[in-house]
Amino acid sequence: MKTKNDFIKILIGANIPSNEAKIEVELILEKVTGKKLEELLFINEFDETQIMPYIKERIETKKPIQYILGYSHFMGEKFIVNSDVLIPRDETEILIRETNKEVFNGAKILDIGVGSGVISCMIGKYSKEKNYDVEILGVDISNGAIHTALDNVKKLNLIRTCIFRKSDIFSNIRSDEKFDIIVSNPPYIPKKMYETIQEEVKFEPYNALFTEDDKGLYFYEKIIADAPKFLNKNGFILFELMQGQFEAVCQLLKNNGFKNIQIIKDLANIERVIKAQI
Ligand SMILES: C[S@@+](CC[C@H](N)C(=O)[O-])C[C@H]1O[C@@H](n2cnc3c(N)ncnc32)[C@H](O)[C@@H]1O
Repeated sequence: MKTKNDFIKILIGANIPSNEAKIEVELILEKVTGKKLEELLFINEFDETQIMPYIKERIETKKPIQYILGYSHFMGEKFIVNSDVLIPRDETEILIRETNKEVFNGAKILDIGVGSGVISCMIGKYSKEKNYDVEILGVDISNGAIHTALDNVKKLNLIRTCIFRKSDIFSNIRSDEKFDIIVSNPPYIPKKMYETIQEEVKFEPYNALFTEDDKGLYFYEKIIADAPKFLNKNGFILFELMQGQFEAVCQLLKNNGFKNIQIIKDLANIERVIKAQI
């Protein structure tokens, strides 16, 4: 038998930062025991035979714990994740909350780069709570991502609200399809940064993270240039941003006729989300 701290120490000993080691052990314990985090506080010792295989796989492969467990917690829900999709990041909650402020009954919403489906699903969940009847279309270039997003939509019982389609940005959107909101957390890391990123991140799909250009602006340029054709009058566009990109994206929006540009910062005071109207 071992304590929670014993497992944390094993991960720290394998160079996993202490704050991450604690969260990862809690996730493993939650999975193995089937108990919630607050219930785990009352258990002092755990059977290591069930837990060590997860710890070993984490140390030996360096794979993110969410891929090993097969899911990721995000905004109070458990999302299925696998090597076809990005593990949802906390920052994306800011994008979702900001988008939800603009959702209304009857809204049509386009989510570009759907991944695991977290954005579509959490807008869908919010709309359901508000009794709004909305249509959310999520697109992605990856078949694997579309399948995973669909699995998450089924799991969250949002099948009537969210639909998914394979599309290279707008390539598979008909010219008569119009939206009130376009939202995207696109790939935004320049490929020249590949060597500098954490080993774990290299398990995530390259196409979900990296852009071929030097500034990580490729998707913002493409989406902003074509978005006016697909947005209803006064429609909104919202993006998640990497640190340092907001000025360039702001300029792109201005150059393409967008108004009421707003920047939303994260808790670290980084310009994380940009929102504008056509
Ligand atoms: C940063 S991930 C975002 C995933 C998810 N929306 C989230 O916030 O966790 C970007 C997504 O864009 C998709 N993508 C990459 N290139 C694309 C393209 N040309 N057209 C549509 N989607 C694309 C990737 O497959 C990936 O799922």
